[in-house]
Parts: sequence; structure tokens; C-alpha cells
Amino acid sequence: MAAGNYLRHMPFKPVTAEVIEALRACLVQGELLTTAEHTSHYGHDETEDLNHPPEVVVRPRTTAEVARVVKVCAEYKIPITPIGGRTGLSGGALCVHGGVGLALDKMNAIENIDELNQQVTVQPGVITQNLMDAVAEKGMYYAPDPSSKGSCTIGGNLAENAGGPRAVKYGVTRDFVLNLEVVLPNGEVIWTGANTLKNSTGYDLTRLIVGSEGTLGVITKAVLRLVPKPTASRLMLVPFNSETQACEAVSAVFRAGITPSALEFMERDAIDFTLKHVPGINLVVPPEVKAHLLVEVDGQHDDALMRDCETILGVMEAHGCGEVLFAESSAEKDALWKMRRNVPVAVKAHTVYKEEDTVVPRYALPKLLAGVKAIGKEYGFRTICYGHAGDGNLHINIIREGLSDAFWNDELPKAIRKIFELTVSLGGTLSGEHGIGLVQRSYMDIAFSEQQLAVMRGIKDLFDPQGIMNPGKVL
Ligand code: LAC
Ligand code: ZN
Repeated sequence: MAAGNYLRHMPFKPVTAEVIEALRACLVQGELLTTAEHTSHYGHDETEDLNHPPEVVVRPRTTAEVARVVKVCAEYKIPITPIGGRTGLSGGALCVHGGVGLALDKMNAIENIDELNQQVTVQPGVITQNLMDAVAEKGMYYAPDPSSKGSCTIGGNLAENAGGPRAVKYGVTRDFVLNLEVVLPNGEVIWTGANTLKNSTGYDLTRLIVGSEGTLGVITKAVLRLVPKPTASRLMLVPFNSETQACEAVSAVFRAGITPSALEFMERDAIDFTLKHVPGINLVVPPEVKAHLLVEVDGQHDDALMRDCETILGVMEAHGCGEVLFAESSAEKDALWKMRRNVPVAVKAHTVYKEEDTVVPRYALPKLLAGVKAIGKEYGFRTICYGHAGDGNLHINIIREGLSDAFWNDELPKAIRKIFELTVSLGGTLSGEHGIGLVQRSYMDIAFSEQQLAVMRGIKDLFDPQGIMNPGKVL
């Protein structure tokens, strides 16, 4: 299979006055924005300090408007980049080739909550927390809960196959998707599957589109599966004087027969940064503590959860934990979750950082962490590590602080390459839940052979022969 050459799509055409008029004619209720203030606003997400504004922002309100806009882009060969809540950490929604920024924030309706089948049909611009709240009112649960759930959107979650703390028990975004409405890069509209819990009918286009980062089409509607809402939970914060012991305890919890609803790791710095940045969290961490695990169990029966907690405590003590803090009230639970969810925000408030979203088989986590620290020492940079330890998913924040431009731009990529090589050598891969987007694409050769990449390029070519759909991403 030919390797494909992505530069062959270049150059794209500029957005001329004629194109603007053609785009405007696509919109009945939607809006089109051209001022620098607007294009700059839609030009950044949470990735480092990058800003790649579109030439024009289009905010459609309907699938029909999206389809017409995509058709115009195909006709004029204009790049088009779907944009969600702009909370991404791999630059997936950055308009690196300018063109049209397709902001889906106005398509934010929860169209139908099907209580009998426990399904929900949503538009892509729905804020994840709003979906969780709406279905919770009816006793159901949408579990994927990225830290940014208050501002990220379902469309962005689908594009990046977002995860979050609860993925360890319930699965990631992809595991909740039954069917998608997609506008293809030629402007045609398809549904990818069926609204069924099982589906063994042909190729699984639904799973292919999820995680494709807006490179194969625009998701305009999603049918998502729901589960019964857990009515009870227990949460504990477990300190360790050694990062290694904390990481080793993680896989032991599962071997003891428990699947927690969250099993998060935070190294000392992650907590210190957060306590400094987020006021009102009442937690004193003794100086000898090097890391914490935040462990949650959920279900319908509190007595069963208590027994699970006893088992977990036994595992933690066998790994040398310190004094465990059990959250007694929902306010205490909220405070601990607030601390955990604010780690990325706190790190960003301190310094620009590069985020590596490594994932390894769970038992390899201690080796990954030790290896990352060794590479940091060798190259001379500091990392803040935390993440979804139960999934073997470690967020490595390489913090900039006083590092020079030369080091940051030229030397650091070599070290990141080493981190990914280590990750892959441990049986892992580049990204657990943030996607490849813009900033990890030059490392894809570490995870995939030329033959594997050729298959992916072939898929991209089939969907998008002109290469207009979110160019410069993933491959
Ligand atoms: C988190 C985001 C960064 O786990 O994925 O907080
Ligand atoms: Zn995460």
C-alpha cells in the first residue's frame, strides 16, 4: 500500500470574499464571524500556549447547515476544522492551516432522553456536565467525566475519545456510543450504526469515527448509551511516602477482586500546586508524603461498598500507605474531587507545560513513572505526574518554568521521544485519552509501523480525498 504524501493536498485555497459569501448563503440560523477578536478566540484550546486562528468562524445550528458549509469547503478546497469546547490538550481543534473554524457550540440540544432504552440523543455542542445532570434527573448515568466536564463538549469528547477518572470502571467515551450522525468531507450525511446495544453488522464505522479527531467528518448527532445511576459512593485519599509503592498498590487492588469507580494517582507536586492554586481545600500533607492515590467505589449498596473499602485498605496497608483519609460527607468528597480535577489548571497557572498522555498496561505503571523521572533527570527538566492509575494512564506534565527556547523546541522533543519509546516498550501507547492532534503526530512512528500508518492514511484518503477535514492532525 502506498505510504501517501500529505503535502500533496497543499496548498489549500484562501478564504476569499467569494467564499465568505458562499458560506453565508449556507446559513439560515447560524452565524459567521470574521473579526480578529473572534477568530483568535477560536484559535486556541488548552494546549500549551498555541494559537492557530481560523480565517473565518462558522457557527451552524443544524446538520443541514453543516452539510452545506462542508460542501462549500470541498468545492473551494478550504480546510475545515471542527471545534468543540476548546479544552483539548493535543491541539486537535487548532486551525493550523487557517480556513474555516466550524464551531459547534450552538448545536447544544439534548434532543431525546429515552428512559425505556436508557439512551440519549445529543447534538455535539452539549456540555458534558449538562448531559450528566440531565440524565441524572431521570436516575441514569453518563459516566465519561473528563476533568474539564464543566466546559468540554460531547462532540470534543467523541472526537478525542475522552476518558476521565470513571473510565476505569465504566469505560471511555467510545464505550458509550451507539450511533453517530456524521457529515462526510463531501457534505453527504450518514449514520454510522444502529441504536442497539449489540451490533455485529459490517465494519464498525461508529468506533472508527470516535477518536478520529475531526479528520474524517463532522459529528452532528450522537446516540449514547446510559447506565443506572449509582446511588452510593465511598472515597478515600491514601498517602504514600514512596511514589513506587503508590503505583504498585494500583494493580494489587484489582487483583484483590475490586474494580473501583476511580483510582487516581497524584504525585506530591501535583497536590502542592493545586492546594496553592485552589483556595478552600482543607488538607495538610505531611512533608514525608510523596504521592497520593484517590480511590472511589460506587454502587447501589453502601454496606457492600464498606466491605470493598476494607479490602482496598488492606491492599494499601500491605503497600505501606500512611494514614488514610475517608471522605465522610458529600462536601468532603467534593473537595477531594475538586483538588484532583484542578491539577491541570493549577499546573497551567504556574507555567506553560507540555502534556504527554501516556498509557501502559496497569502493572507497568511503576516502571513508567520511574523511567520518566530518569529521563527528566538526564535531560534536565521537571515533570508533574498524575492521572488515571487504574487505567495505567499517566499524564506527564513537562513544565517549562525557566527552560530556554532552544531547549524547549529542539532538545525536549528528543526526550519526549524517549518517553514514548519507553511507553511502547512497556506495552503501552502514546495517548490514553487526549488524542494525537497536532502535538504528538511526529511521534506516531514509535507506536505504528509504516504498514499500519499506510492503512490509516488509506482510510483518511477514502473519507477525505482532498484532505480538507482538519488537516495537519493525527497522521
Ligand atoms: C485530567 C485531564 C488532564 O485527567 O485529562 O485531569
Ligand atoms: Zn485525564
